[in-house]
Amino acid sequence: MARLLFPEDFHWGAATASYQIEGAWNEDGKGESIWDRFTHTPGNVRNGDTGDRACDSYHRFDEDVALLRNMNLQSYRFSIAWPRIQPTGKGAANAKGLDYYGRLVDALLDAGIRPFPTLYHWDLPQPLEDAGGWPHRDLAGRFGDYAEIVTRSLGDRVSDWMILNEPNVFTACGYLLGIHAPGRRSLSDFLRAVHTVNLAHGDAFRAMKAVRSDLRIGTAFNFTPCEPHRDSDADAEAAERWHAFVNESFLRPALRGAYPGFFRDGSAPLEALAVEEGDAERMRAPLDFVGVNLYTRTIIQDVPEDDGLGARPALPFGGDEGPKTDFGWEVWPDALRTMLVRISSDYERPEIEITENGCSYGDRPGPDGRVRDARRVEFYRSYLEAVHRAIQAGADVRGYHAWSLLDNFEWGEGYEQRFGLVWVDFETGERTPKDSARWLGQTAAENGFEV
Ligand code: FCB
Repeated sequence: MARLLFPEDFHWGAATASYQIEGAWNEDGKGESIWDRFTHTPGNVRNGDTGDRACDSYHRFDEDVALLRNMNLQSYRFSIAWPRIQPTGKGAANAKGLDYYGRLVDALLDAGIRPFPTLYHWDLPQPLEDAGGWPHRDLAGRFGDYAEIVTRSLGDRVSDWMILNEPNVFTACGYLLGIHAPGRRSLSDFLRAVHTVNLAHGDAFRAMKAVRSDLRIGTAFNFTPCEPHRDSDADAEAAERWHAFVNESFLRPALRGAYPGFFRDGSAPLEALAVEEGDAERMRAPLDFVGVNLYTRTIIQDVPEDDGLGARPALPFGGDEGPKTDFGWEVWPDALRTMLVRISSDYERPEIEITENGCSYGDRPGPDGRVRDARRVEFYRSYLEAVHRAIQAGADVRGYHAWSLLDNFEWGEGYEQRFGLVWVDFETGERTPKDSARWLGQTAAENGFEV
């Protein structure tokens, strides 16, 4: 037996997001978000589920903080709902909204837990969508204003922040594939949204640093290593194209002020972004850390035909050598090591926070009330071993956040997919820590585990 120890000052944590846990969708002056509208429209979400009540964390956040403390966790990644702060997406702040997050932050600090908020985890104020949404470039400036309001209110107590959660996912699922709010299906809306989000990212970064230059600011990107399907040059090149598109469309503009090679000069996708003079500088956001959300790897096959875009497409699919979670995602721990090592070597060894990693398994309470989620324990153990290997290979990883603290509203899948360390009874709101919560708690207390 060996003991894997993590670096001193490593932060063990858990993550959630406002719409997925808060409920209270129309309380205390909160405005409507695109997720309220999307879930209230029949046919969009499995079983017609909504986040109207979710885990009711808006009223029960003290219990959530106690759960974190009992697990010895030192960092809590949560998100701030823009429509609680600016109900219509612009204008003066709603004091009650700011007050809610102030109370949450104070409760965390009292418990010795680092508050680690994300400014945008997908709940755009609906009036901003009605005015054009992310494809409309004016939204970038609005987002900068919102970032400033929040940092002015909490920046004295919160030092570590994320601007966005998974920009590639909310732009593609919301504007191209139509499976997330606001449910649009348009290639040109998608590409314009990509560019506005990149501008918003830069604007928010500067607005926050102008309020307090010492804030530590990053973004949580969704990453997946892209592996060629066959042992051929064509598939290897396709895998690199997909990597550039899926992993770097937001990271590279932020860190380098440029789009990745996928958007070749003169190509139709680059034209469709509608980049204007001066935008390269405006999208630059020299992040203090890179947030890594990672669940699995992606296998890529070359597709020889032109896709009508002037871009050579690639066909992505999931791997099928490892076991699958209940969501159907392949368990492939080495994906995390590979990606951490690649980001470190391609971007001059940035500080990294693992901002999400986890798995969906439906294990329920037994007759004795205990949730024996052995597969989740094994998932965390194996992915954390991969993190440890990446650190030994030189990656500067500062923290790890399990997705998720609680079973919660899993977007288009409603309440069917359970990612929590803690079981939630959605009828009563009752919370029951699973075996995985105990395992992670012990790991956090010992800053490592036996292998
Ligand atoms: C990520 C999201 C998060 C959660 C997990 C399972 O893409 O950031 O909100 O839904 O997937």
